[in-house]
Amino acid sequence: MRVVIIGQGYVGLTITAGAVGAGHEVVGIDKSKSVVDSLNGGRSHIEGISNTLVADAIKNGLYRATTSFEASSKADIVVIAVPTPLDSSGLPDLSLLESACDSLAPNLNEKTLVINESTSFAGTLRNIIAKRIKDINPKVQFFAVSPERVDPGNEQFGVKNTPRLVGGITAESTDLAIAFYSTFCDNVVRVSSPEVAESAKLLENTFRYVNIGFISEFAQLMNAMNIPVSEVIAAASTKPYGFMPFFPNVGIGGHCIPVDPLYLQKNAEDVGVKSRFIALSESLNHEMPEYCVKRLEDIHGELKGKSVLVVGVSYKPNIADTRETPAEHVIALLRKAGAVVSWHDPLVSTFNGESSSPIEGNYELAVVLVNHGNLDMKSWRRGPIYCVNAMKDNSQWIPILGSRNLK
Ligand SMILES: NC(=O)c1ccc[n+]([C@@H]2O[C@H](COP(=O)([O-])OP(=O)(O)OC[C@H]3O[C@@H](n4cnc5c(N)ncnc54)[C@H](O)[C@@H]3O)[C@@H](O)[C@H]2O)c1
Repeated sequence: MRVVIIGQGYVGLTITAGAVGAGHEVVGIDKSKSVVDSLNGGRSHIEGISNTLVADAIKNGLYRATTSFEASSKADIVVIAVPTPLDSSGLPDLSLLESACDSLAPNLNEKTLVINESTSFAGTLRNIIAKRIKDINPKVQFFAVSPERVDPGNEQFGVKNTPRLVGGITAESTDLAIAFYSTFCDNVVRVSSPEVAESAKLLENTFRYVNIGFISEFAQLMNAMNIPVSEVIAAASTKPYGFMPFFPNVGIGGHCIPVDPLYLQKNAEDVGVKSRFIALSESLNHEMPEYCVKRLEDIHGELKGKSVLVVGVSYKPNIADTRETPAEHVIALLRKAGAVVSWHDPLVSTFNGESSSPIEGNYELAVVLVNHGNLDMKSWRRGPIYCVNAMKDNSQWIPILGSRNLK
């Protein structure tokens, strides 16, 4: 198949790799010239997609990247995978998705299937994407949603073995989308409408959002009662059914978990239903950086004038993505408490206009927020190393949230 994938980021490039692997001819469209130039030079900017994979796909004539939307005129399949963030008021911002539709629409032919993989609220495919494209180009008739479930850095589950939901605007659209994804996904699940697929994605991520909020609150309770929360979670996890462990952390980050529930909230507001769990979890999740810094002060003592190295500023291990990272709040709060803060991350070279500092500095304490696989603290010679949770193989690190008895 001739496939065009709009957006060559975490999601778009992952699907590109899957489609190329199945022998499809893929054109990756991205509005960023530097992304396009780097990909055409055989360099991947996404963890889990190797340079070799990109370079081989180009060499075999199966892939090229471009900033031009012209290629979509010959496509059998167009996949949209562009960011769907929140605006400055915390509301869904579909401007990039809308602009992708507007650029795409004039080039499409009547046989092309347009698939949206970007996360958005229920109704986006039908009322925004299809409507917008058809207003510009009425002959386009096939539209489907297949929400992306990629978990960057996850070595166990990838495009092939993660079941994929597909919901089309008509049965024929769904059939076409299933035929496409079945070429590189083991398990493609048909749902009855795009709204079911869109809502399922929001349910999955809101489920995590709410449970992370709950476990954060639970950790605060356990800490106040001096009961080791990690051990409690491990104990509860021995129940073989009806329990799924979540782990307290310094906060939530990335482009999905802090954002997607607010897309669900928009659906709720539109139909006049209260979304109390989302609002409560939002405040619980957002107060965690402050709680962690306060805990650090309780354990270590006053931070004023102390030289602190924050280690790991991306939002999760083994990923360079710093979008919505709670590290930003932790650093700001430590500085507010009077600490002199530097940060180190083996995967992130610059962040918020500052550069990663070496571990071998003149620091009095380190706080590991994210423990990347290639993080090497062996050259740390100074004061204590704190971490957020009890971490395996690092028993000398002092957990801020968690298992060490403080009394
Ligand atoms: N990153 C994840 O783990 C993940 C997982 C599941 C779903 N999602 C969803 O997938 C979508 C894409 O996220 P991502 O993480 O891949 O984003 P990303 O920022 O990694 O990549 C998006 C790319 O799209 C390009 N782009 C933006 N607007 C464009 C336009 N109008 N035309 C062409 N290119 C454009 C950007 O330059 C960028 O390279 C979002 O809706 C996100 O919520 C992300």
